[in-house]
Amino acid sequence: MLKGKTVVLGVTGGIAAYKAAEITSRFVKLGADVKVIMTEHAQEFVGPLTFQAISNNPVVTDMFAPPTRWDVEHIALAKAANLFVIAPATASVMGKINAGIADDMLTTTVMATKAPVLIAPAMNVNMYESAVNQRNMVALKELGYHFVEPGEGFLACGDLGKGRLEDPEKIVNRAVEILLATDELKGKKVLVTAGPTREAIDPVRYLTNHSSGKMGYAIAREARLRGADVVLVSGVRDLAAAEGVKVIEIDSANDMYEAVMANIDADIIVKAAAVADYRPAAPSDIKIKKMPGDMTIPLTRNKDILFELGMIKTHQYLVGFAAETNDVIENAKQKMVKKNLDLIVANDVTAEGAGFKSNTNVVTILRKNGEEKALALMSKEEVASEILDTIIEDMNA
Ligand code: CTP
Repeated sequence: MLKGKTVVLGVTGGIAAYKAAEITSRFVKLGADVKVIMTEHAQEFVGPLTFQAISNNPVVTDMFAPPTRWDVEHIALAKAANLFVIAPATASVMGKINAGIADDMLTTTVMATKAPVLIAPAMNVNMYESAVNQRNMVALKELGYHFVEPGEGFLACGDLGKGRLEDPEKIVNRAVEILLATDELKGKKVLVTAGPTREAIDPVRYLTNHSSGKMGYAIAREARLRGADVVLVSGVRDLAAAEGVKVIEIDSANDMYEAVMANIDADIIVKAAAVADYRPAAPSDIKIKKMPGDMTIPLTRNKDILFELGMIKTHQYLVGFAAETNDVIENAKQKMVKKNLDLIVANDVTAEGAGFKSNTNVVTILRKNGEEKALALMSKEEVASEILDTIIEDMNA
């Protein structure tokens, strides 16, 4: 994902400095070239050798060390960076950057870089909340610095509160979003639905399905990476949407219908949700008590949201999913015609590595003009990228 990208990682002196090793490792696994700069205080917490071994690059620790190459080193690093990450960032380093102080390798390189800078602060909760630190962070945000806010929890000092370095995975995800951003969909609105619906039987029970929402979230993220305004209508609660995606949480298919219709002005609509076709006809207001013998719940039909969209669409590019167990391509083609779609993603849920809970998928992308793209087994993020590529090709044609 990050082949050909250089990430300069600045590590400053906090207890969380050791977590920067995992951040380095995650970047390396994604294919990035990682150059680590450590402040003097960071080296009190963890040794440069750790980062050298993981990044497979020399670690820069001292502004006045003999240069390893002819370029002035801090300028060379500043220029090489596609992204500058500071994790963990102390209150001190943020204060210095905001004040324009460049007195070590890290702060001089940050000042010299034209690359985006992502800051992941970590410190004691009282330092974090102090007026000075908050003022510095507000100012840095206004200047265009990106942030991954610290998490809440028990801090190394024993206090409870905000200040714990955010999970390395989340920091790297945010970095990927910044690194891969393009403006292909700038000015376009993309509406995505994701996850299952929940159809109430009574206040404590519902009918649902196994959809995880992962595919829809990956599509929302991919659209956001390409600069779109993204609205995600979601039937799941436990997934993190990409930065800048507007999430509308829903329960039932009726809720989803309302939320979709409120955003019908979208340019692209992707219906990745697994919508229940039926709901209990008369949900009870109070908890249903068990009775002797069996029970039958009468069901009534939900609206087919995608079908309705296909009927009323004007300018919208409409994308559906077809999760099938048999005659996959044929069933998907029929759905594309019946629902008046521009594209349908056919998904054989019985295939190895495909389906609801999996992080991977095996799909065929079918276009209205009859073209078919059968994709190999790949991550849902990669599938999302292929789908967006196809949509953009069509829209530009
Ligand atoms: N869909 C929808 N509203 C529904 C049912 C489905 O918007 N009430 C959308 C899904 O989000 C998906 C597409 O229609 O993009 C196909 O969903 P699927 O469940 O495969 O098809 P159905 O039309 O429900 O057909 P069947 O269940 O008979 O296979």
